[in-house]
Amino acid sequence: MAKKFYITTPIYYVNARPHIGHAYTTIACDTIARRQRLLGSETYFLTGTDEHGQKIQRAAEAAGKSPQQFTDEVSAEFRALWDRMGITYDDYIRTTSDRHKRGVQELWRRIRDNGYIYKGSYTGQYCVFDELYVDVGPSEPCPECGRPTETIKEENYFFKLSVFAEPLLQLYTSQPDFIRPETRRNEVIAFVRSGLRDLSISRSTFSWGIPVPDDPKHVIYVWLDALANYITALGYRSDDDSNYKKFWPADVHMIGKEIVRFHCVYWPAFLMAAGLPLPKSIVAHGWLLFEESKMSKSRGNIVRTETILDVLGSDALRYFLLREVVFGQDGSFSFDALVQRYNSDLANGLGNLASRTLTMITRYFKGEVPYPSSSASRVPADDAIVKHAQKTISDFHALFESFQFSRALESAWGLVAAVDKYIVENEPWTLGEKQDEHSRSRLATVLYTSAEALRIVTALAHPVMPDATTKIWAQLGLGDIAKSSLADLRWGQLQLGTKVGKVEPVFPRADKSAIERMQMIEDQQRTASAEARPDPNEGRATEAAAGATTTEVLERRASSPGTTETPASQGSAPLNKPPAAAPSDGKITIDDFAKIELRVAQVKVAEKVKGADKLLRLEVDLGTEVRQIVAGIAEAYAPETLVGRKVVIVANLRPRKLRGLESNGMIVAASLEGGRPVLAAFLEEVPVGARLK
Ligand code: ME8
Ligand code: MG
Repeated sequence: MAKKFYITTPIYYVNARPHIGHAYTTIACDTIARRQRLLGSETYFLTGTDEHGQKIQRAAEAAGKSPQQFTDEVSAEFRALWDRMGITYDDYIRTTSDRHKRGVQELWRRIRDNGYIYKGSYTGQYCVFDELYVDVGPSEPCPECGRPTETIKEENYFFKLSVFAEPLLQLYTSQPDFIRPETRRNEVIAFVRSGLRDLSISRSTFSWGIPVPDDPKHVIYVWLDALANYITALGYRSDDDSNYKKFWPADVHMIGKEIVRFHCVYWPAFLMAAGLPLPKSIVAHGWLLFEESKMSKSRGNIVRTETILDVLGSDALRYFLLREVVFGQDGSFSFDALVQRYNSDLANGLGNLASRTLTMITRYFKGEVPYPSSSASRVPADDAIVKHAQKTISDFHALFESFQFSRALESAWGLVAAVDKYIVENEPWTLGEKQDEHSRSRLATVLYTSAEALRIVTALAHPVMPDATTKIWAQLGLGDIAKSSLADLRWGQLQLGTKVGKVEPVFPRADKSAIERMQMIEDQQRTASAEARPDPNEGRATEAAAGATTTEVLERRASSPGTTETPASQGSAPLNKPPAAAPSDGKITIDDFAKIELRVAQVKVAEKVKGADKLLRLEVDLGTEVRQIVAGIAEAYAPETLVGRKVVIVANLRPRKLRGLESNGMIVAASLEGGRPVLAAFLEEVPVGARLK
């Protein structure tokens, strides 16, 4: 019986469009799934979208759409992208589908009937961005993401998470591979050791979710809803649960490191409570960083996958992400690095090896793979390549099995480099000029050896770069690579006399303009999406979030014209001295307010100002320009925590000099007791440059 293999991506939130962070996880899973199929496993690869909860409901409101219409559109965009990239998912689960809703309610009933759900009431903080209950005081930010939290006070259903602390710790100990890599495992163990509290698993103050069975005033907590996708997609407790029976438990849940707790603590606890088998392993990778911070829709520093597909194609992105980023760690993305890798490893590396080898076979042997000649004319360099190739095959398999993609590819490209050197040293072009028997026989050996090594690298790299390797395989005269088997790949399988196909470049060299083109497409996209965004006033949730900041500015603006600004007050609102005098009735007209240009800006650079304890020098991006602002917030914010963050600025303030630095605008913040500033922020994602009104 064929080995079964079940792998999943997280289901992505549909509050915004996909970016290469999502593509990263999906590519890694697709590569693993393709490899498993070639190894002969019966493989099931699941992806999909996470469409319920407060965050999505608000995003839909902000877009002026019904949640269902909104989620339909964005979910379709994710799916269309995966299709364009040739992602070989076997199923695409949407949490708004009936099959999922039914499955989640079944899971709830199971957990409830086993006695792990009780009714209670929750008063505390909630982070809508992370959809997470957080244990902080009412005005404190989320410890996970730093965004503001909201106080909720509701009647809820609770899950007896606390009773699972011991069983979970036992699980982590007895199954060391349950969480990978090791660093994440240690974090989870420390978290669980510090004690688990029961978890609220329903919400009753909004409706965008799956109703709790027998109590539809409540909707099921979005993370219980979302995690269940891994079994509902397989038909858990449905009329046809054959896939569930066949594929559960999953071999790998692949995730980003920020959602480890949900997958390694909540999910196995829910499953234990329901009496179901646990997944075999959860593998967490690091973050793709762009411009030094985590690429994310809320930070606005995203790179769209389509841009790279348009200019370099999907294989280039796949190779780059798996080769460049050490799996498990954070890795920086840049167009420069992408193009550099593409040229060095693909155009000059594999592509060049393929074209020179195949061209010479065509020229010197009429396009037929020649026979590697008898021992008499063999030299140690020939056998060194054979050995190297054999070692590469076993190293590659072992490294891939342990998710060390970058080292696996490094080892395969080590073989490419060795063969390049071998070709240069053996000068087949010189041998090709001669007609004596020895030279012909050396030439045959050199070209066979090169072609066979090329075949092996191509086979190994196929799951990573399906398109390009399909072409090379066909050019090698080997037919359809998808029908090949990876399980018994070994030296010497290239048949002599194989007729090679037409030689065509697979990776045309990219020049500098490729970088510029990608940057330009991205810039245009950013501006376009900033312009296309709905007026924030149309989204009620956004209005609520912006309300506090606007009021704060209004007060100051209405009351402080003419007051002398201290250095700190120029850059930052909260350290302003209280207003000296207010206009007659303290009210202004809408026209007065319209004079203030408030905009969303993103901090690009933040650093302390020498000799000024309170001041930070910031460079903020307004979408149309980058400005310097000097702000009196140094006592409340460490500069490094600000980079990437979106802030609200007064954009049309006359420039001032502070400590010799020009400050061109003011950052808006709430002023708390003692003058402590708290920067204005948004609960939804807002584009850089958006105007507040
Ligand atoms: O968390 N670098 O969805 P999400 C690397 N719906 N990976 C990234 C990334 C980045 N900069 N940005 C996103 C959710 N990802 C939940 C999951 S699962 C039951 C529910 C990838 O849209 C990475 O896999 O926020 C991360 O975990 C996932 O997208 C988060 O996607
Ligand atoms: Mg996220």
